[in-house]
Amino acid sequence: MKPRVLSGVQPSGNLHIGNYLGALKNWVKIQYDYESIFCIVDLHAITVYQSPEELRAKILELTALFLAAGIDPKHSAIVAQSTVHGHAELAWLLTCVTPEGWLYRMTQYKAKSEAQETIGAGILLYPVLMAADILIYQANVVPVGEDQKQHLELARDIAQRFNSLYGETFVMPETRLPAVGARVMGLDDPEKKMSKSEKGSGHAVALLDPPNVIRKKIMRATTDSNPAVSFENMGPGVRNLLAIFQAFGDWTDDQMKRHFEGMRYGDLKKQVAEMVAASLEPLQQRYREITADPGYVDRILAEGCERVSPIANSTVNLAKRRMGIYTRS
Ligand code: TRP
Repeated sequence: MKPRVLSGVQPSGNLHIGNYLGALKNWVKIQYDYESIFCIVDLHAITVYQSPEELRAKILELTALFLAAGIDPKHSAIVAQSTVHGHAELAWLLTCVTPEGWLYRMTQYKAKSEAQETIGAGILLYPVLMAADILIYQANVVPVGEDQKQHLELARDIAQRFNSLYGETFVMPETRLPAVGARVMGLDDPEKKMSKSEKGSGHAVALLDPPNVIRKKIMRATTDSNPAVSFENMGPGVRNLLAIFQAFGDWTDDQMKRHFEGMRYGDLKKQVAEMVAASLEPLQQRYREITADPGYVDRILAEGCERVSPIANSTVNLAKRRMGIYTRS
């Protein structure tokens, strides 16, 4: 049997080239080596207020983008988290075995709670729900970025604690992260990872940005005070632009150096913009085709739910039996 891989994305903000190069492109490549489940985590999205209209639209948009990027629904399950009721149910069972101190210690929680005066309790419990997403499918491998590593380790700690209290129930997800793609930084601030929630219009290139918007954003990207590319001495902005080009073009380091060494920044940006626009064109074309059939995306989500529900139900039932809460026999 193939190992099972699971990952998730929140249906909030706009999916951008950082999400594509850092995650989605890699998922598409590895999907056949695993039994693959890709989850649209709408229950995580509502840990902060979402406009209901927008959220509904974003879930469908994200599903269509997964498909347009090359996730193959004949092989991989695309699941809207809330359609599989066990996620929320298992999250409660896991909450009851999680020491609260583990949650207050999460750096993402600390950052969010320090930034705001009051936050929902869902923000604190966010990583328990994420543990439920992973453990409910007995996933072996969970490809996530560096920023989610602490949450993944917490999922392992929770699984271990449950298993030692109630007996072997959950598969331990591996901490090994399968080779992740490029880490793309913000165009306006190359010290920070490109983010979906960043509002600035010059921060990220969204996967659905039209070519003229892509060009405008890349031409405005932050560089440094040098006039031209020097591989010996370059700032983070230039390095980021080169990394984006290289990841889309699948060029070798050697090719990159030969082609770009000494190139003036104006020309570099033009070439990066053309590479990004040309690479996204087929994805955007597929997106238009997919969304032209109004019921298609709903059918994909219904299929995904049906496919994975038996796994989820059997894990939740097992966990309930182990804990001694009432299950109908
Ligand atoms: N917390 C993840 C993020 O913000 C999203 C997520 C939710 C996830 N559940 C998951 C990722 C399960 C991997 C596995 O990126």
